[in-house]
Amino acid sequence: MSSSSSDSPMKIVILGATGPLGSACALHLAAAGHPVACVARSRERLEALQARCGGPLTLLAGDLSDPGQRGRLHDRIDDFLRPGGPAVFLFALGAHGDSTPGGDEAAARALVETNLTLPMLEALRWAPRLSPGSQLVFFADATAAAPGPGYHAYAAAKAGIAALTKTLAQSLAPGIRVNAVAPGIMNLKPTARPDAMERWSARVPLAAIGEPAFIATAVEFLIRHPYLTGVVLPVDGGYSLHRH
Ligand SMILES: NC(=O)c1ccc[n+]([C@@H]2O[C@H](COP(=O)([O-])OP(=O)(O)OC[C@H]3O[C@@H](n4cnc5c(N)ncnc54)[C@H](OP(=O)(O)O)[C@@H]3O)[C@@H](O)[C@H]2O)c1
Repeated sequence: MSSSSSDSPMKIVILGATGPLGSACALHLAAAGHPVACVARSRERLEALQARCGGPLTLLAGDLSDPGQRGRLHDRIDDFLRPGGPAVFLFALGAHGDSTPGGDEAAARALVETNLTLPMLEALRWAPRLSPGSQLVFFADATAAAPGPGYHAYAAAKAGIAALTKTLAQSLAPGIRVNAVAPGIMNLKPTARPDAMERWSARVPLAAIGEPAFIATAVEFLIRHPYLTGVVLPVDGGYSLHRH
């Protein structure tokens, strides 16, 4: 077993750092004293995240779906990780949207690419380069194990993330721990209807939608706990206990 209980600072790379959950993790882990590198396409949103953070973040703007930009991002992540030592990768990349039978094939492909293919390729690329004691943390979805109708490409991708967490946890043990959080409903879009909070809260056993900070503390728990690997941890107020 690797002794990767990280009470001491570890370098953290967050792929998809500017969404509500990625940015909550960046702020929380930076405040805990970890050096954090934040990857996303929009430099403007990365700079807005830096403005909310008490300490310096390493901001890496680029599109992981573009081969040239991906190579440049890899070089800059390599620079951040030098001279080595255990590191943590968070795969908070995401895109949300419906995909209907007979609908737009390109849109369905894009959902699978962002939610599954890119996190998987990045994990497969970085795992052999990481020191023992390093960790991977994926972002699944509370409904991955029992999705309802609709959102086919998204649901397929998130089920793939849960499977990837379990396969990688076995192939990378004992040196590297691999876990995932499975968030429930953590935030509403600014465009949500005025009654959205009430309607969604009614579908959660704990009678409230979550807060992005709940995901940050769950991620910290997975990072710090030395005896967890292959766990897909629901953080959802009980939302996944019944079918949707
Ligand atoms: N929020 C929730 O309630 C919830 C619930 C269940 C599961 N989740 C999952 O949790 C994870 C984080 O959620 P979130 O709400 O924070 O996600 P989000 O708002 O969709 O943010 C996605 C992040 O990925 C970046 N990104 C997307 N495509 C990229 C690309 N090609 N190259 C580089 N960066 C890219 C985005 O920045 P740019 O657009 O600037 O690139 C952003 O930083 C996602 O996997 C999501 O599916 C979220």
